[in-house]
Amino acid sequence: MQYLPIFTKLENKPVVVIGGGEVALRKCRALLKAKAQLTVVALHFHPDFYQFDSAQVTLLEAEFNPTQLTGAMLVIAATDNEDVNQAVFAAAEAQHIFVNVVDDQPRCSFIFPSIVDRSPVTIAISSAGTAPVLARRLREKLETLIPQHIGPLAELVGTFRDKVKARFSNLADRRQFWEQVFDSTVVSDVQRGDQVAATQQLEALLDAQPEPQGEVYIVGAGPGDPELLTLKALQLMQQADVVVYDYLVSDEIMELVRRDAELICVGKRMGDHSVAQEDTNNLLVKLAQQGKKVCRIKGGDPFIYGRGGEEVQELARHQVRYQIVPGITAAAGCSAYAGIPLTHRDHAQAIQFVTGHCKKDGQDLDWQSLAKPNQTLAVYMGVVKSPYIQAQLLAHGRGADTPVAIVENGTRANQRVVSTRLNELASTIEAHQIQSPALLIIGEVAALHKELAWFGNTAQTASFAQALTTVSHADTSVA
Ligand SMILES: C[S@@+](CC[C@H](N)C(=O)[O-])C[C@H]1O[C@@H](n2cnc3c(N)ncnc32)[C@H](O)[C@@H]1O
Repeated sequence: MQYLPIFTKLENKPVVVIGGGEVALRKCRALLKAKAQLTVVALHFHPDFYQFDSAQVTLLEAEFNPTQLTGAMLVIAATDNEDVNQAVFAAAEAQHIFVNVVDDQPRCSFIFPSIVDRSPVTIAISSAGTAPVLARRLREKLETLIPQHIGPLAELVGTFRDKVKARFSNLADRRQFWEQVFDSTVVSDVQRGDQVAATQQLEALLDAQPEPQGEVYIVGAGPGDPELLTLKALQLMQQADVVVYDYLVSDEIMELVRRDAELICVGKRMGDHSVAQEDTNNLLVKLAQQGKKVCRIKGGDPFIYGRGGEEVQELARHQVRYQIVPGITAAAGCSAYAGIPLTHRDHAQAIQFVTGHCKKDGQDLDWQSLAKPNQTLAVYMGVVKSPYIQAQLLAHGRGADTPVAIVENGTRANQRVVSTRLNELASTIEAHQIQSPALLIIGEVAALHKELAWFGNTAQTASFAQALTTVSHADTSVA
């Protein structure tokens, strides 16, 4: 992060602006919104400067001199003279005063962000000076997304802060109360402009003294690209007091959980079960019984090879409230981003999801059925057992030249797709040193990767350039 976003209170604080033209005028207007005490230094002033209240703005008709900055909190250089701007920058830096030289990012120790103003709610957007038009576009998007009544709502709840603090000494209880408020009719009352009803409803909620109730959200986070999260997943990740996660959840997705939520990693990599499943089940129950909102976040979909079923059974046994949020499973995500339709009228009429990693005492798979042609197998956790999977499918009659795609880190910026044939599956995995997580797509449709990936949605990963790299990896295939 190049600039730390902070909001400063400038009311009656000294700010110096060097420059008397239109740009300086715009900056002064922005600073006056925050009620700063301005000194403007210039040899000539745009006529509009004389409209300002002289109690708030002092006009100094003079050349720039470093002593003019003494005591200032912020300095803005808005002249069209490069030497003056440089002198202002140097003087401010020497005095450790935050300085902004307009349109000169290297000479800015602070920047003016694009602002969405729903006072008292203010959203500031910055591209650290690299792409102001992009920042402006984002602001426009947010302007349309964030309703106007957010400002009055924030004002109203602000008047209840002390009462709520007095009622709930515990931070988690207070947070739960506010969550309840924002899910209540208080919001729609404010939206309608009925402040009286909103206030009454807030008071009623406060009087009701709700018992803090724990809840567990079993959330599917998809295969890795954060844009594949559902809106509901994002909302619940933002509400949780505690987030219980495992390694399959990508770092980009973990960035989106509530900043101050407690994070508990329960491991789970192949061969590295840091926390036993029973312990995770017990942990979820215990946290919910403490009244916490727990987000149990899982890669892909929680109910597809995600042990979500076992966790929900345990919650139900202890009568803990829960919500389940489906996620995009690896087969759907990897196939889409690799340009492989899982079914296709010409090539595959059925799809089977299988795991290469069963419970120790689990039954073996129905190889007879899995080896049938014109169907697709999406094999989860199949890398280690690939020699066995290959041997069983061949032994049960699947053709040696059946196309296979191995998708490593599917949907992520470092996605790699390697194409091969069934009789070379294990050797290809070894030769390319395929790492977890990886999904095997076995069947006629896998051959379509080469045809479709070039123009397709592999570009949905971080950038098109990366997508091209991804596809060129795929071209190292042995098929
Ligand atoms: C324990 S299973 C979890 C599956 C998950 N619940 C789902 O619905 O995708 C883990 C396996 O899913 C597959 N997988 C998950 N995310 C993947 C990704 N981004 N790319 C490739 N395979 C992935 C791999 O086969 C991995 O070993």
